[in-house]
Amino acid sequence: MKLRSIELALPDPGSAAAFLADIWGMAPTEGQDGSTYLRGSGSFPYLVALHEAEVEHARSTTFVCEQAELARLAGRVAAAGWPARTVRSSDPGGGSGIEVELPEGEIFRFLAGTSDADPIEGRDLPVKLTHVVFNSQDAEATGHAVEKVLGFRVSDRTKGMVFVRCNESHHSTAFARAGFPSLNHIAFEMSDIDAVMRGIGRLRDHGMAPSWGPGRHGPGDNVFAYFIAPFGPVIEFSTAVEKITDDYRVGAPEDWAWPEGRIDHWGMSDKDFAGLRAAEQRFRFHRDWDAGPLGAI
Ligand SMILES: [Fe+2]
Repeated sequence: MKLRSIELALPDPGSAAAFLADIWGMAPTEGQDGSTYLRGSGSFPYLVALHEAEVEHARSTTFVCEQAELARLAGRVAAAGWPARTVRSSDPGGGSGIEVELPEGEIFRFLAGTSDADPIEGRDLPVKLTHVVFNSQDAEATGHAVEKVLGFRVSDRTKGMVFVRCNESHHSTAFARAGFPSLNHIAFEMSDIDAVMRGIGRLRDHGMAPSWGPGRHGPGDNVFAYFIAPFGPVIEFSTAVEKITDDYRVGAPEDWAWPEGRIDHWGMSDKDFAGLRAAEQRFRFHRDWDAGPLGAI
């Protein structure tokens, strides 16, 4: 199972796409169905889809997997009674599968039979998404639910987050103990630390400073720099997230306590708590489809 893309809806997708292409450093790719798509240098055909809507929201977060894994997943979703439907994707890469509404409204789409694109060589693009994080009313319950129903695994619990993996990467998603459900942030994998630093420089050239970072996290050990995108959400340059195995010991909040005054390994940057929290509240979830029987997948 791999995290592939996020599909956002917002009033002005054109200006969001311009920011992501011209400043954040993504490559526009062919649009269809009224959506705009941006890709990275890796083999996924796109990482971010932008669709026009009056009220900004996260339409879906898309994972790709093999057909057999999808069939098992569909069986567990049906047994759990979560709202779901079968889908055939008209986004770049195609594929078919299921779309599922999680207990707090997050919409995950799981596709099999998707196609890849040729990687882009020689340009300083984000490679792929490395995680999409959500705010939760009850992150602990959501962590248990995605383990049981989606087959994901909790990697670590901290005072603020439940980190969840769907492959050997320490986390592909996480649920923040925020007290409300929304999109927390979208993290883009850069090829190395230098690429993260060049990204920070590129945004600085356009008058933007990180809202937190650069730094290195505890859980996942990844390097980060968070920005508030002009079109609303929190976005992150990240790299070098830890790869773990099945016998990874799940950490508890007391395992991840920082020394006084520290909230990351490096301690070299301030964090704009208020600005980040406001941005995290903007993109909510909205299921604009009717659930139906999943049938044979
Ligand atoms: Fe992150």
